[in-house]
Amino acid sequence: MWVLALIFLAAACVFSLGVTLWVICSQFFVVHIPAAVGHPVKLRVLHCIFQLLVTWESDSVVLAVGYRQLPKHKFPVPVRDCLVATIHFLKSLDAYGVDPARVVVCGDSLGGGITTVVCQKLVDRPDLPRIRAQILIYASLQALDLQTPSFQQNKNIPLLNWSFGCYCFSQYLDFSSSWQEVIMKGAHLPAKVWEKYRKWLGPENIPERFKKRGYRPMPPEPVNEAAYLEVSVVLDVMCSPLIAEDDVVSQLPETCIVSCEYDVLRDDSLLYKKRLEDLGVPVTWRHMKDGFHGVLSTIDMSFFHFPCSTRILNALVHFMKGL
Ligand SMILES: *[C@@H]1O[C@H](CO)[C@@H](O)[C@H](O)[C@H]1NC(C)=O
Repeated sequence: MWVLALIFLAAACVFSLGVTLWVICSQFFVVHIPAAVGHPVKLRVLHCIFQLLVTWESDSVVLAVGYRQLPKHKFPVPVRDCLVATIHFLKSLDAYGVDPARVVVCGDSLGGGITTVVCQKLVDRPDLPRIRAQILIYASLQALDLQTPSFQQNKNIPLLNWSFGCYCFSQYLDFSSSWQEVIMKGAHLPAKVWEKYRKWLGPENIPERFKKRGYRPMPPEPVNEAAYLEVSVVLDVMCSPLIAEDDVVSQLPETCIVSCEYDVLRDDSLLYKKRLEDLGVPVTWRHMKDGFHGVLSTIDMSFFHFPCSTRILNALVHFMKGL
């Protein structure tokens, strides 16, 4: 027993020494402190501590893509930026010391939609390491149907109410926000389109218990051709990955889905979960009964912190540790 403990202690010492040496050496060979920054020594010491903390903390590399964003950059620029960055990262895993079998892609809200678009695009790239898992946090997965039960039930709930959600889509997809009324009636798409996607978007795909709170099925009104002409971009799978073909969705990696009850986008998660499961993709689903759209962002907001955000983070950590 003592021998084992000693061996363990010795190994831990050697590892710590190695990490510390590496952090210090990198100060001299890699790190560049510009002359214009006052207190260069202070910054070096701070950086050493930071690097040690990062190394000890999770033994993970976190890459946050600084993609070009709204309102200046519209669809599909953010999606393309994320795709290009992911492909570049997958090609340079060696440089980052990342195990190619353990790359996870994650995003929330619009970024959650982009996450799965990236995974869908990588499905037929056998030249790149396969993504181990995707994590979709209250993701925006379709822009066709804004009258799903969750859109109706949560239309006046902050932080993302119905009209702001619709306004965000119009900004992102670059169509006039004056089509809101038409979109609300489902008149922005012709009957043949509704018919085609009913098997994936229809309310019968959503469990009954989610339809109890103020939901009224609303058959779409006849199409407004002018609206359709401008809004038809919603049919692009790069903004509505929920309607990608079976042969793409079925090849997606293991998935963790987080949904919030009081979120207009809740049903995007429920519908995508069903599609993935129907096609045999393993899904871990965490539904926050007290969650609202954007709640995870409150995790470091002291006064504005909502306990639900901690539960989401714990669920994500638990999912990743189990991979
Ligand atoms: C929806 O949310 C936006 C942004 O928070 C707000 O400006 C607007 O007044 C809200 N609309 C309704 C109908 O509550």
